[in-house]
Amino acid sequence: MRTIHVGMLGIGNIGKGTWQTLEQGRARIEETTGLDIRIDRILCRTIRPERAEAIGVTPAQAEALFTTDPAAILDDPAIDIVVELMGGIEPATSYMAQALKNGKHVVTANKAAIAANGEMLSQLARENSVMLRFEASVAGGIPIINAVSSPLLANTFSEMHGILNGTTNYILTQMSEYGKDYAEVLKDAQAKGFAEADPTADVEGIDAANKLSILISLIFGIKVGPDEIAREGITRISAHDIRFAKESGYRIKLLASAAEKDGKVYCSVEPALVPEDHPLASVSNEFNAVFVTGSAVDSLMFYGRGAGPLPTGSAVMGDVIEIAVEINKGNAFDNIPLLRYDADLTCAGEGAHRYYVRMTVANRTGVLGSIADTFGAHNISVKSVIQRGAGAADAREALPEVPLLFIVYETERSTLNEALAEISGKDIVLSVDNILRVED
Ligand code: HSE
Repeated sequence: MRTIHVGMLGIGNIGKGTWQTLEQGRARIEETTGLDIRIDRILCRTIRPERAEAIGVTPAQAEALFTTDPAAILDDPAIDIVVELMGGIEPATSYMAQALKNGKHVVTANKAAIAANGEMLSQLARENSVMLRFEASVAGGIPIINAVSSPLLANTFSEMHGILNGTTNYILTQMSEYGKDYAEVLKDAQAKGFAEADPTADVEGIDAANKLSILISLIFGIKVGPDEIAREGITRISAHDIRFAKESGYRIKLLASAAEKDGKVYCSVEPALVPEDHPLASVSNEFNAVFVTGSAVDSLMFYGRGAGPLPTGSAVMGDVIEIAVEINKGNAFDNIPLLRYDADLTCAGEGAHRYYVRMTVANRTGVLGSIADTFGAHNISVKSVIQRGAGAADAREALPEVPLLFIVYETERSTLNEALAEISGKDIVLSVDNILRVED
């Protein structure tokens, strides 16, 4: 049986999950492909006995397996495939570039590195006639990259919406189910290990923007860097927003969206009110989903675990097996880049949407009319308005200030911001508390 030699950069959770996935699937992989896939070397920062224990190898095996020298993998002519699982843009990008230049195929789970440097790495793969695969970089165990690049290739896509970050979806679900506030749920999620000690990349939507940037290139064929994507996180969502959304028939989700219309691509990562009967509304806790609409296939939703050692390990191993099979065929490699930047489309910001606006206003005559007039002056049409009292006093006595909720029809966010700047200046408006996109 032919052996395919793999060198792995990094042995954190995903590295361990990849090792475990390979060992669990070894018999089936060998039976199906006729190949013996071996992880021969693993790069780690320090060699410690726990690392060997975590993947069940003896100290003697560990000595041959672990290295702290990247060149021991990148420059070893016996290594066929380099699997990069270190995370972060550097040194991961430089290591992948070196591996490609040395004629090695590369598999990565690194969304930040692919979003930042995918074009350069794809070019290197092409120049060196090797494959670069990154299924695990978007939505963990969901094979969305393969789906849109291969079985769905005959489609032109008009839109996609993704729940691409498990941490934020977990927090929003817990807020919705238990009526708790953001800070309380975040603390709880950190204590249980669901959220990172520094959750910035997740809660501010940076992680989702990296993943959306990759999907835009695959689905629409243009380059939109993560920094070009309009982005808002979930830190301003309160228990009030969740409750009001629920009462109006919506769930709040951190949506990564992109749509194409008349040659323009509109995209954003932002919390949005999703109708409760939309399939994305039922995606709970740490689960991810990607909803795409193709010209032939119509709408499809992919659902599953977007993180975790084994789901991510499953995606990494899928890429490794695909490459191993190609190596064994001995033909020219399928090194047509999956990432594309050649479509005749331009990125045009986030586009016009419906919005929910929550504000706190003085409970006085004429307030509603005054605010509605200002929306009207900015050509913003109001779809619905709800005024709420607070707690037990609701509807029994006139409170000095009350929350007022508007849903407005399609408008550009910049136009809405101008109107709200004017509305905030009125002495009857105590605060504009939140603005959220509404999907219908
Ligand atoms: N931090 C990510 C999430 C994990 O919460 O979904 C993998 O990208």
